[in-house]
Amino acid sequence: MTDLTASLAPSDYVSDDVYRREVADIFERHWLPVCRVDQLDVPGARYAVDLAGRPLVAVRGDASIRVFANVCPHRGSTIVEPGQGRGSALVCPYHRWSFRLDGSLVGAPLAEGLDLDGVCLPEVRHTVWEGFVLVALSGEADEPHDALAGLSSAIAPWRWSEMVTVASRRFESTWNWKVMVENWIECYHHVGAHRETVEPFQPARNTRLIDSGGAPWAAMTVDSIDGVEGPPDEWMPGIEPSMAKDLSVWSAFPLLLGGGVSRYGFWLQIEPMSTVRHAVTWHLVTHPDQLDRFTTEAAEATMEMLAEVHREDIQSCERVHAGLASGLLDRFTLAPLEATVADFQRWVRAAMSPAAD
Ligand code: FES
Ligand SMILES: [Fe+2]
Repeated sequence: MTDLTASLAPSDYVSDDVYRREVADIFERHWLPVCRVDQLDVPGARYAVDLAGRPLVAVRGDASIRVFANVCPHRGSTIVEPGQGRGSALVCPYHRWSFRLDGSLVGAPLAEGLDLDGVCLPEVRHTVWEGFVLVALSGEADEPHDALAGLSSAIAPWRWSEMVTVASRRFESTWNWKVMVENWIECYHHVGAHRETVEPFQPARNTRLIDSGGAPWAAMTVDSIDGVEGPPDEWMPGIEPSMAKDLSVWSAFPLLLGGGVSRYGFWLQIEPMSTVRHAVTWHLVTHPDQLDRFTTEAAEATMEMLAEVHREDIQSCERVHAGLASGLLDRFTLAPLEATVADFQRWVRAAMSPAAD
């Protein structure tokens, strides 16, 4: 029997103390997504994010990818703007100290005679899983590949490591990051939040949850109505006819949210900022074989369709936040299609050190 016990209380979503402990116990100690390898396609390409107040920048040097603190060792200014960028060096806008793509200092203006030995950008440990550049802020996490092996097989037909990004769109969110994750990892809400948009095509009742066996991920498929799969020559090359109608929805805890249909994939990057704020960036991806179909206009049209659904999720998450912040609810009651939410809450609870009283 699936365990539907909720391990978190509504107050865990609105408490600054809980968020502080999540930063230390969850965000510092587990693998978090920075970008995709394909977003660092040429030497000098970079992608900057802010993960729970840790500004980071992933860069491609001549051969390798590295992730650095996006914090200037001079006086602490952040160096590059969030999102994608390009340049042969990282130049701090404050006093124009500049750094090579290996993090070493190129030079500092008007600083002749100053001993700058050892001044460089601190590197953050990273790994690559399914084409995602993931970082471990504390440097201590075990490599994620074993723990995510079951998820890798569940999403194998999409051949995620080969996917390339065709469009991105960022949304500001004014609710707790866990509400966002939980909203993503259940398709039960198709019956309510998306009853006129997604539900007619991907009905909640067609959800098939995939058992993670307690591993740090959640995944499911939703069988779509006929016709949604489109013509086979537009499918991702690993998609078989038997799965072409599947909507795939998944998450690698804590922050990586992904999904796909026969013709493309998408992933959401969550950048937590505080107890009640985070940014969500949607990235639309496809297989290089299908790139021709994704003209700028076509990519934007697909992104707009996804954004329409996301705007419905924004409304739902805002409503949930209002309820959780009210203090009028003391526990959740999870339904069978929310076994993944129960799994996520158990994972969060287990990752957290107990509150100091
Ligand atoms: S803080 Fe970066 S150059 Fe001064
Ligand atoms: Fe949704």
